[in-house]
Amino acid sequence: MTVYYKGFPQSDREEYLHMINVDELEQRVKKIMPEGAYYYIASGSENEWTWRNNTAAFNHWQIIPRALTDMENPSTATEFMGMKLKTPVMISPIACHGIAHTMAEVDTQKGAAAAGALFASSTYANKSVEDIAKAAPDAPRFFQLYLSKDWKFNEMVFDAIKKTGYKGIYLTVDALVSGYREANLRTKFTYPVPLDFFTRYLDGKGEGQSVAQMYASSAQKIGPEDVRRIKEETGLPVIVKGVESVEDAYKAMGAGADGIYVTNHGGRQLDGGPAAIDVLPAIAKAVNHQVPIIFDSGVRRGSHVFKALALGADMVGIGRPYLYGLALGGAPGVQSVIDQLDKELLIDMQLTGCKTIEDVKHAKIAHINYTADNLDSITSPDRMKPYPKTADNQIKTNGASDATSGASEH
Ligand SMILES: Cc1cc2nc3c(=O)[nH]c(=O)nc-3n(C[C@H](O)[C@H](O)[C@H](O)COP(=O)(O)O)c2cc1C
Repeated sequence: MTVYYKGFPQSDREEYLHMINVDELEQRVKKIMPEGAYYYIASGSENEWTWRNNTAAFNHWQIIPRALTDMENPSTATEFMGMKLKTPVMISPIACHGIAHTMAEVDTQKGAAAAGALFASSTYANKSVEDIAKAAPDAPRFFQLYLSKDWKFNEMVFDAIKKTGYKGIYLTVDALVSGYREANLRTKFTYPVPLDFFTRYLDGKGEGQSVAQMYASSAQKIGPEDVRRIKEETGLPVIVKGVESVEDAYKAMGAGADGIYVTNHGGRQLDGGPAAIDVLPAIAKAVNHQVPIIFDSGVRRGSHVFKALALGADMVGIGRPYLYGLALGGAPGVQSVIDQLDKELLIDMQLTGCKTIEDVKHAKIAHINYTADNLDSITSPDRMKPYPKTADNQIKTNGASDATSGASEH
């Protein structure tokens, strides 16, 4: 089924998805999602070189198989900052889940809870933190913070998350401005469904914002003193999200960060930077278990989760795949994506003599050389493929406001 928010088609499907791998959802989702929305999610910045390498670079690392091992009853269960989880696979924070499903973050939280996975809400969530908490009151969740220039906004957010059981904060520091995302320009993308915290802050006038407008309201300067102030004002642990160098890891820890989140924002920020998995080992060495490490960017396989854990991560996030799962199947769709990666991880564990996630963290990984491509972005006229036209993925243009028609600067 498809429902419409001011002409924008949203899925209301609720079904557990059968898939061979999570990648295939990316093609399936095009049939129910408007083109601009799909490319907003799928694409990266500039030539998308970093975005492509995020997944390709897992091939720089080889898992060494092990045999003659006892492989009965392995488990992917793990513990992270005192939270007991069924899997190290976690939900990375993503803005505007209403682009995928009418139940938005409420269903993502339910799906993550059903899979026993850690959930995160973005500052740019559509649903309120109160509604998300109600969806799975006992489930563990983190809040992702885009620090605003206006501390009145920040304090409004802090008050709300303190009352709704969030276990900690991911402070995003790699997106003080938006990366140059050509897809958003080509499709003139604006957020089609209002974002709760902006609606509250702007007294109900937060609709139809471009990605660039949203980032413009964020702080363009975040320093160690902000980490300290956020910790003080919220009393919650703060994990710094967007670390890609040893220097920044030291800086974050020096400011009292309770964890380091190694990511390049899924290749949506600086194009030309390294694949996230390639910077993980050096950062893990520098952090030296003083604080936990989260990793994401490009994870599409259980073997990717395995490699990230073996190279120093304690938890491994996924972004785009669960949003496609949400669109195609609501809460059970999200659950099925996490389950699929967890199932693949379990097989990899059995083939490497790892019975526990702790064993995976000590597994042997070898580095190998590689070459990379240099293609144009997926929305460049030379590469862009015809987009499927179906009854469910069309925007109705006779509504009061056409949610995706505003100009987006970048
Ligand atoms: C559509 C989209 C929106 C995102 N929104 C946010 C956000 O609001 N806050 C944030 O810290 N990261 C955001 N990210 C980055 C993710 O948290 C994560 O780092 C990234 O998706 C991981 O890469 P992957 O999609 O290849 O798994 C977003 C990513 C995507 C794809």
